[in-house]
Amino acid sequence: MRVSLSLPVVALGLVGSAVAYPHEPNPIFRHDPENQAKADAVKEAFQHAWDGYIKYAFPHDELHPMSNGYGDSRNGWGASAVDALSTAIIMGNKDAVQTILDHVDTIDFTKTKDEVSLFETTIRYLAGMLSGYDLLKGPAVNLGVKSSQVDNLLTQSKNLADVLKFAFDTPSGVPYNNLNIASKGNDGARTNGLAVTGTLALEWTRLSDLTGEEEYAELSQKAESYLLNPQPSSAEPFPGLVGSNINISNGHFTDATVSWNGGDDSFYEYLIKMYVYDPKRFEKYKDRWVLAAESSIKHLASHPTSRPELTFLASYSNGNYDLNSQHLTCFDGGSFLLGGTVLDRQDFIDFGLKLVHGCEATYNQTLTGIGPDSWGWDPKRVPSDQKKFYDKAGFYINSGSYDLRPEVLESFYYAYRITGNEIYRDWVWNGFKAINATCRTGSGFDAMSDVNKVGGGSHYDNQESFLFAEVMKYAYLVHADDAPWQVQKGDKNAFVFNTEAHPIRVSHS
Ligand SMILES: *[C@@H]1O[C@H](CO)[C@@H](O)[C@H](O)[C@H]1NC(C)=O
Ligand SMILES: *[C@@H]1O[C@H](CO)[C@@H](O)[C@H](O)[C@H]1NC(C)=O
Ligand SMILES: *[C@@H]1O[C@H](CO)[C@@H](O)[C@H](O)[C@H]1NC(C)=O
Repeated sequence: MRVSLSLPVVALGLVGSAVAYPHEPNPIFRHDPENQAKADAVKEAFQHAWDGYIKYAFPHDELHPMSNGYGDSRNGWGASAVDALSTAIIMGNKDAVQTILDHVDTIDFTKTKDEVSLFETTIRYLAGMLSGYDLLKGPAVNLGVKSSQVDNLLTQSKNLADVLKFAFDTPSGVPYNNLNIASKGNDGARTNGLAVTGTLALEWTRLSDLTGEEEYAELSQKAESYLLNPQPSSAEPFPGLVGSNINISNGHFTDATVSWNGGDDSFYEYLIKMYVYDPKRFEKYKDRWVLAAESSIKHLASHPTSRPELTFLASYSNGNYDLNSQHLTCFDGGSFLLGGTVLDRQDFIDFGLKLVHGCEATYNQTLTGIGPDSWGWDPKRVPSDQKKFYDKAGFYINSGSYDLRPEVLESFYYAYRITGNEIYRDWVWNGFKAINATCRTGSGFDAMSDVNKVGGGSHYDNQESFLFAEVMKYAYLVHADDAPWQVQKGDKNAFVFNTEAHPIRVSHS
C-alpha cells in the first residue's frame, strides 16, 4: 500500500458537478490510495504520450514515436487530438482539453487528400467530438471551458456528418465505406462489411438526438435494418449470427461466414449498446444480440485440447469451424458482461467471464505479458516449433504483433465494474505495466512484432490514436473513483462507450 497522493482536480470538480449532474457514487468503488496512485501512473503515461504528440506531430494524425516524425493516416484532421478528447476530460487534464478544443475549431472536414473511411471517421472523429460534447455539457461541466467551444463540438459533428452522408446514397441505403469526399465518389465496392455497416447507428443517432435533425439517425438505421432482418435466410446459419458482407445494391448478405473477429466484431457490440442507449427505441437490436449471444454460447464456444478449461470463440462457415481468434475479438467478454448485467442474465455474465479468462491467458503466457494479435488452437495445425508452447499455453501464435490494441484491457474493465472482483483490476494493471515497459519510447508508445520475445522483437514507428482513446482510458478508469461516465452494474448506465471508448450519454438520462 502506498502513501496517499494529493486529491486530483477532477475529484474536486465532481463534487460541484453533482448539482448539474446527480450521481450517487457506488460505495463498492470507494476511494483508496493504492488505486489512486495507479490511476495517477496512468495519467503520467498519458501525459508522456500527449507531450510527445504535441511536440513532434500535432496537428497531424499520429506520432511516429521512434523517429519523432508524424503520419496522417486518418485524413490529416488531427486524429490523435480528437481521439484523446474524452480521455483528457475524464482525467481532468484541462490543458490538453483546451488544446484539443482550439484545434477542433480549426478543422475543415471538407478537405483531405486521401480516401475517407466512413467507419473509422465515425468511430474516432464523430464519436470523439460527440462524447466531448456530452461530457462537457454534463458531468464534466465544471472543467470550465468556454461554452462556445463546447457548442462547436456539436457544430463540427454536424459539419462532418454532412460531408459523409452521401455515402448512404445507394440503391439499398447500405453505405459505401471508402469515400472520395471531393468528387462524392467511392472505391467501386459492390459489398460492404458487417462491422463497418453495423457500427454507425450509435454515433449517427446521437447526432440526430442532439441536433433534432432526424436525417442522420434514419440513414444509419436504414443501413442497419438489413443486418437486423438478414436476407437470404441462409446468411443466418445460427439464430442471430450472420454473414460478413452485404450487397450494396439490395442489402442482401453475400456470404454466411460467422464470427466475432475483426470485420464482424462491433456489429454485435453495437446491438446491445444501442439498447443501453435507448431501450425503448432499440428493443429489436437487443433481441438480435440475445439470439447471437445464445447461439455463440451454444455453437461457437471452443476449448483447446491442451487447456480445456479455457474458452475462445471459434468462427463458422458452411459446416466448418475455424479455430482462430484475435486480440480484436477480446471485446467479446465485455459485450457479454454488459448484456448480462443490463438484462440481468447471469448465464451471459458467467460466459463473459470465461471469455475474459481466455483472453487473459493470451497475455499471461507470453514473455512480454502482452497477448498476440492472433492465435489458433486447432490441434491438427499446431506449428512444429510451437508444440511445447501450445501444450502449456492452450494456443499457438499466428501473429505475434501488438499495435496498442485495447480490447483485452477493455473486457477486464467491464469484468471489474460488473463483478467488483479485484483480480480483473490487477489484470489491467499487469497489462498496462507490460505495455509501458515494452512499447514506451522517448516520445510515446510504439508497436512491436513479437509479444513472445523479450523486448517484443522489432518495433514499428507508429502510435495509433486509439492509444489515447482506449488503452489509456480503460487503464485509468478501472483504478479511478466512481463517476457518472463509468460503466455501472445493472441498468443504471448514464453513458455507453462507443467502439473507440468514447462515452456517449444515453438518451433517457
Ligand atoms: C448484388 O445484387 C444485385 C441484384 O440486385 C446482383 O445483380 C449482383 O450480382 C449482386 N452483387 C453481389 C456482389 O452479390
Ligand atoms: C500468470 O498467471 C499465474 C496464475 O494466476 C500467475 O501466477 C503468473 O504470475 C502469471 N504470469 C504472468 C506473466 O502474468
Ligand atoms: C512507465 O515507464 C516509465 C519510464 O520507464 C516509468 O518511469 C514509470 O514508472 C512506468 N509506469 C508504470 C506504471 O510502470
